[in-house]
Amino acid sequence: MTDELLKWRSEFPILDKTVYLISHSLGAMPKGTYERMQAYAETCATRGVRAWAEGWCNMPVSVGDEVGRIIGAEPGSVVMHQNVSICQSLILSCFEPTPKRNKIVYSELNFPSVMYVYEAHARGGKLRIETVKSDDGITVPLERMLAAIDEETLLVPFSHVLFKSAFLQDAKAIIDRAHEVGAMVVLDAYQSAGTVPFNVKALNVDFATGGSVKWLCGGPGAGYLYIRPDLQLTLEPKTTGWMAHEDPFAFDTDLRYASNATRFLHGSPAIPALYAAQSGYRIINEIGIEQIRKKSVRQTTRLIELAEEAGFTVTSPKDAARRGGTITVMHEHAAAMATELINREFIVDFRPGAGVRISPHFYTKDEELELVIEEMKSIRDTRAYAKHEAAGAAF
Ligand SMILES: Cc1ncc(COP(=O)(O)O)c(C=O)c1O
Repeated sequence: MTDELLKWRSEFPILDKTVYLISHSLGAMPKGTYERMQAYAETCATRGVRAWAEGWCNMPVSVGDEVGRIIGAEPGSVVMHQNVSICQSLILSCFEPTPKRNKIVYSELNFPSVMYVYEAHARGGKLRIETVKSDDGITVPLERMLAAIDEETLLVPFSHVLFKSAFLQDAKAIIDRAHEVGAMVVLDAYQSAGTVPFNVKALNVDFATGGSVKWLCGGPGAGYLYIRPDLQLTLEPKTTGWMAHEDPFAFDTDLRYASNATRFLHGSPAIPALYAAQSGYRIINEIGIEQIRKKSVRQTTRLIELAEEAGFTVTSPKDAARRGGTITVMHEHAAAMATELINREFIVDFRPGAGVRISPHFYTKDEELELVIEEMKSIRDTRAYAKHEAAGAAF
């Protein structure tokens, strides 16, 4: 069987030097990023301040449209920010909790940075958080999640795919339940966009946010925020700035919110990061998410078989329909094993409670799946992990 997607390997320099299985953390950088960074420097050097009017000002939206194609958003409904944490703060700043609607619902397996945002606001006393427990540290029971969402719920910020275990939550069920009781949903698509197909319009989600570092192969500093089109004219974010003004260059002393998604911007955008991220989006859009997912399901399923045959315990979900692009392999010495794997140019990582995280992406060869499990077996059997025993997660 020929794997058409392997033709993309030559676009990713790091694949020549390592077995790169860490797209859940930092996706391989495309060669095109060198050109994009050069294009940024060239524009800055030759056009100077005129670059703002010649495209930079519009980049949070024009680059947002490229992400929008990946997540099924209408043009003009995604704006670029630095990261997910700021997007969550910005969304929360649109709302005023009342005694009757003041609850935030999320699972204890949410990405910690997202929880920090809501917890910090809750310390003010107007918001309260209901944390949905997981029984196994890997999955979140859907029924428990749905039951926590009630008439007092303001927002449900949840991870589509959990960062630690790759458990894929039932986004539609959660969104429908929230809407039934008048709550809104923030979908954190960081671990799904670029590897799991979904469509923000079909889901009818209120907000979606994520970043480009992982499956989108776009590097840091290019977070995105989708706002459902009908909300773009009504909400007024308090985390704001001059780029959210209807006419930023009027330098008006009063804020008049833009009548489109740019009202969800704040200050000057991180232009170099937006240039850098485009090479990844273009490749993902050219391949198409359905193709990426098909290969991902095949390769993660194969990895589970190989890991189990080798006597390891797989902690990520076995059912592909409930799993993102990662598998996690537990072993008593998993943290130290991950460090030794990295020393041997097998780039993976470790998360407490889940184990070694391994993520093939569209550029992964089937033989690399065999190689990584063989290497893990050898590290286990020769106790080569022992010298790293004190190690925790390196990144
Ligand atoms: C689900 C999820 N959300 C958010 C983040 C990162 O948030 P930020 O963009 O604020 O760094 C990660 C990174 O691992 C993640 O996996």
